[in-house]
Amino acid sequence: MEIVHLSAECYPVAKVGGLADVVGALPKYQNRLGHIAKVVMPAYDLKFMHENEFEEVYDGWGKLGNRDFSVRILREKTNKLGFDLFLVQIPGLLNRPKVYGYADDLERFFAFQVAALDWIEQWEHKPDVIHCHDYHTGLVPFMMSNCVRYWKLNVVPSVITIHNAEYQGQFGFDKLQYFPSYDPWHSNKLEWAGAINPLASAIKCAWRVSTVSPSYLEELSHKANGLEALLASEKRKSRGILNGIDTEVWDPSTDPMLYKKFNLKTLESGKRANKQGICSVFNLDPDKPLFTFIGRLVGEKGAELLPEIFYHALNTYRGEINILILGSGEADVERRLEELKDGFKGNYNTYIGYNEQLSHQIYAGADFLLMPSRVEPCGLNQMYALRYGTVPIVRRIGGLRDTVSDIGDGGFGICHDQTTVWDVGHAIDRAYNLYKNQKALKEIRKFIMKLDHSWDRAAQEYIDMYQI
Ligand code: ADP
Ligand code: GLC
Repeated sequence: MEIVHLSAECYPVAKVGGLADVVGALPKYQNRLGHIAKVVMPAYDLKFMHENEFEEVYDGWGKLGNRDFSVRILREKTNKLGFDLFLVQIPGLLNRPKVYGYADDLERFFAFQVAALDWIEQWEHKPDVIHCHDYHTGLVPFMMSNCVRYWKLNVVPSVITIHNAEYQGQFGFDKLQYFPSYDPWHSNKLEWAGAINPLASAIKCAWRVSTVSPSYLEELSHKANGLEALLASEKRKSRGILNGIDTEVWDPSTDPMLYKKFNLKTLESGKRANKQGICSVFNLDPDKPLFTFIGRLVGEKGAELLPEIFYHALNTYRGEINILILGSGEADVERRLEELKDGFKGNYNTYIGYNEQLSHQIYAGADFLLMPSRVEPCGLNQMYALRYGTVPIVRRIGGLRDTVSDIGDGGFGICHDQTTVWDVGHAIDRAYNLYKNQKALKEIRKFIMKLDHSWDRAAQEYIDMYQI
């Protein structure tokens, strides 16, 4: 099959969160199954653009209402990512240093979707499926099946994968003029709760809908930021497919970003060396358990509770535990996490910002990774932690529920039910006790490193979904 993935992010080209990891891996594994999977994404002004060679495959003009824009589509020449990568250049709109966060993001991603379809529509053949990821590409299923300009694509199946239903990209009907012409009778396929809602529209128009874990699909029927009824009514065409991880990028035995590489045999000495490495950089005590949080500092991740949780834990276990945070997000949370440093020097530190290499080092060197998420459609961090022998402490929700089972139930992680200071605090107590039982901890580490979360299974599940 020929599969075209449309996405705003793709690792290593442009990454904000887990969406990039998924779109940077899934096509590679689909290709290995004998299919032809490609990625089409915006050309941002990022390092990858300047360090690689491209050839032009399309040169044309697009239209957004009264505004004409020029489009060039470039193909990365070497196929080094394991799939064909196409970057859509739209000067003045896409060539900026950040992926999101501009006042005209609506126009940027709208223009991207129009440009991608203008190009694909001109191919001599039709792809077998167009696979959209999240709301930034959510208008594509509607445009493919309703806009006169894309009539050739209206027989091509489209898929929307919901990585996170909290973000839907709503905008007002005053922007209706941006759409290439279509029969206005069909505007209802764009609308949800009085606005144009790209995610809702994709759920209505796509041939298949998928979520990034089975539990998240279930949860969405009763908690989907306003889309509950819609998702419930489209359940028949929906599937929950658990994400994998790219076990080639995330492999402690080959990972060039680590202080020391390690495998099952050298697990204990390898983790120790990585722990020592980060502890010396962040002035922490390598002889004490190291807890970490890596991620976006936003409400979804329970981040605003972290300062209070850590304050209590560091007081209760004064001098007996370390905590290291890597993340960025809400300014108030960042500030409160920074402020804690003064009271707990030598046992607590933060890195506020984004740092890919440091994240690998922390997954490798930490003892426990906290994920007290309120919403977690899948979550990749816990799977990276497992592969690097770090015990996850997670809330039982979404993909966390599907990937981590509690030691009390014969499992290998520490699970809690609520995103509250008390629940997470209790989970930290349990982790502290586990750390004291080094024999049990070592057995768990060995076990979790062997768990298989590679993409092979999920890549096939997607193929099955396209075909049924
Ligand atoms: P989400 O996409 O909701 O943020 P995921 O768990 O799916 O959550 O994926 C997060 C990805 O982003 C992981 O690869 C994680 O290591 C990475 N990440 C998050 N914050 C940072 C950061 N500050 N520095 C480096 N990597 C980060
Ligand atoms: C979203 C979700 C996260 C998921 C990721 C990749 O960012 O918040 O849970 O792991 O997408 O699918």
